Amino acid sequence: MTRHFLRDDDLSPAEQAEVLRLAADLKRDRFSAKPLAGPQTVAVIFDKTSTRTRVSFAVGIADLGGSPLIIQSGESQLGGKESLADTARVLERQVAAIVWRTFAQAGLEEMAAGTRVPVVNALSDDFHPCQILADLLTVQEHKGELAGLTMSYFGDGANNMAHSYLLGGATAGMHVRIAAPAAYAPSDAVVADARAIAERTGGSVTVLTDPAEAGAGADVVVTDTWVSMGKEDEKAERVAVFGDYTVDSRLMELADPDAIFLHCLPAYRGYEVSAEVLDGPQSVIWDEAENRLHAQKALLAWLLAKNTEAAA
Ligand code: CP
Ligand code: NVA
Repeated sequence: MTRHFLRDDDLSPAEQAEVLRLAADLKRDRFSAKPLAGPQTVAVIFDKTSTRTRVSFAVGIADLGGSPLIIQSGESQLGGKESLADTARVLERQVAAIVWRTFAQAGLEEMAAGTRVPVVNALSDDFHPCQILADLLTVQEHKGELAGLTMSYFGDGANNMAHSYLLGGATAGMHVRIAAPAAYAPSDAVVADARAIAERTGGSVTVLTDPAEAGAGADVVVTDTWVSMGKEDEKAERVAVFGDYTVDSRLMELADPDAIFLHCLPAYRGYEVSAEVLDGPQSVIWDEAENRLHAQKALLAWLLAKNTEAAA
């Protein structure tokens, strides 16, 4: 069975820790691993726009000795012109892995089911697991550990970042709190999955509507845009409903005095976060953005090694 990374819980707690260890090693010694030497090609497909994901995968694949093939889906036969299953079979004959940013999680699942090479979710409407690996690496660097820390997320509880914090944070043994308006609460199924993981790892999951309650004593404060890609038409109603969830210095004062602030970026100052917090001393957003590179290199190297072992 080919290993894929479509959602955060595709890695067990031990596997997630292993990938994060490898990421830290690769950060220390950036060009030490060449699993893609040849060079082998990795397809990196985008149905949505991107800066960080595109750059970090392109650079990371080259660092690993490989060659990135960036495909804007509108310029390919994807998107209804050719079936996903047929695309998957064409790609697997030529590339070592497929990295895909798309809308529906079901599309990723279909692609993964139809190919023998690893498929990596580079953001879907439901999850952004590569981002959470980078975030966990960043927290580990700044806090020295993950298990037992409280990570509080504010804003759109139903989006990809909130869902990935739930699954990825629980996998790391963290206490994950989500503060969101009731109409934007996380998916019940994701909360149930995260709770089941947390029971094994010693973490916990709490879904709240009160931002002050969620912020109290937090070690890690996180937020994300209120208007995810694909939701642009809902901007006015979203800005109205999320107004109380802005991460500002008042909210940061409720958190632990040594709390750090993360944001996957792009950020909208004055909406989900004040400029004072985003650009302030507790913010570690530039480390977080850099860590996309190291975390994804580790993930690709790990997936390729697993699949080589399985084929042997
Ligand atoms: N955080 C993130 O995924 O950024 P991009 O949309 O720029 O890739
Ligand atoms: N929730 C955001 C994340 C962007 C990296 C979006 O999906 O647009």
